[in-house]
Amino acid sequence: MLRRVLLAASRSEKMKNAIETWPVSRSVVRRFVAGTSVDDAIRVTRLLTNDGLLVTLDHLGEDTLDRQQADATRDAYLVLLQRLAEAGLTEGAEVSLKLSAIGQALPGDGEKIACENAYKICEAARAAGTTVTLDMEDHTTTDSTLAILRELRRDFPWVGAVLQAYLKRTEADCRDLAYEGSRVRLCKGAYAEPASVAYQDEHEVDRSYVRCLKILMGGRGYPMVATHDPRLIEIAGALAVQFGRDQGTYEYQMLYGVRTEAQRRLAGAGERMRVYVPYGQQWYGYLMRRLAERPANLAFFLRSLASR
Ligand code: FDA
Repeated sequence: MLRRVLLAASRSEKMKNAIETWPVSRSVVRRFVAGTSVDDAIRVTRLLTNDGLLVTLDHLGEDTLDRQQADATRDAYLVLLQRLAEAGLTEGAEVSLKLSAIGQALPGDGEKIACENAYKICEAARAAGTTVTLDMEDHTTTDSTLAILRELRRDFPWVGAVLQAYLKRTEADCRDLAYEGSRVRLCKGAYAEPASVAYQDEHEVDRSYVRCLKILMGGRGYPMVATHDPRLIEIAGALAVQFGRDQGTYEYQMLYGVRTEAQRRLAGAGERMRVYVPYGQQWYGYLMRRLAERPANLAFFLRSLASR
């Protein structure tokens, strides 16, 4: 119930304006977000990669409503990629991209605009010597995102995509994307979705996650196991052994600020461990989804507001 309320709030303009102008404690945002500027992104990336972790950077923004904003977000990625290359960080860091932030939701030719912007970002990533992974948003965008993935992969075969285990369609999508060279980031899913398309019960979502993992680990692509769930991480490790996968032929991924000790433990055990690091001014939607995932985060958030 609380999760639904927070996820609804993540889409509310009124709440967004209220919370963004509220004196939210910096420490709450800072726990999950690297900072607001590209300098912050570079600084945090350097700290994490120095510790043996890999990074994927997300320039925060979603639901872009005009072309100018879409192009500005594209340009922010171009700057980020150039800065990563100049800092010599592209071996350990790639970027994650929300297509809605670069125009996908614009009326009319939104999909085309997002595809063109994503293409330019992929060109910059190739020049910088790194990769791009497409985030997955609510289920109304899945077909469009997978269509753009197919288009981009013609010229940039290393472009990855996220699939969400809570969607009933995802096992079939995993089968489609389990081919050689394919990079799939499997997560549980973070949006409020109807029962017609998504499992509602958390155990059902976990079971779906395991079925999807089996397909990806048994396939020929590169699975990216994006979860903080200790049981699923253990199962992923067991499946890697069962399917004869060596360390480095798959990777684990977690969000910045979540289970940081586990991140370091996995990296210390020789696993590829990538941290998803968001940065930028538009932290509201991202933060609300993180609060929805865990009531303890909400308590932390409210405490820090009260203690100001
Ligand atoms: P679950 O929510 O069951 O959490 C398991 C345990 O992990 C919890 O008991 C707690 O200990 C810890 N934990 C989880 N979330 C926490 C939090 N916010 N704060 C503190 N502790 C927490 N979703 C999506 O719809 N589209 C996308 O593109 C992406 N991309 C993405 C990339 C990466 C790298 C990750 C790790 C996740 C995403 N997600 C996502 C988010 C994902 O769908 C999901 O909402 C979160 O990862 C939480 O689910 P878990 O699998 O961690 O399990």
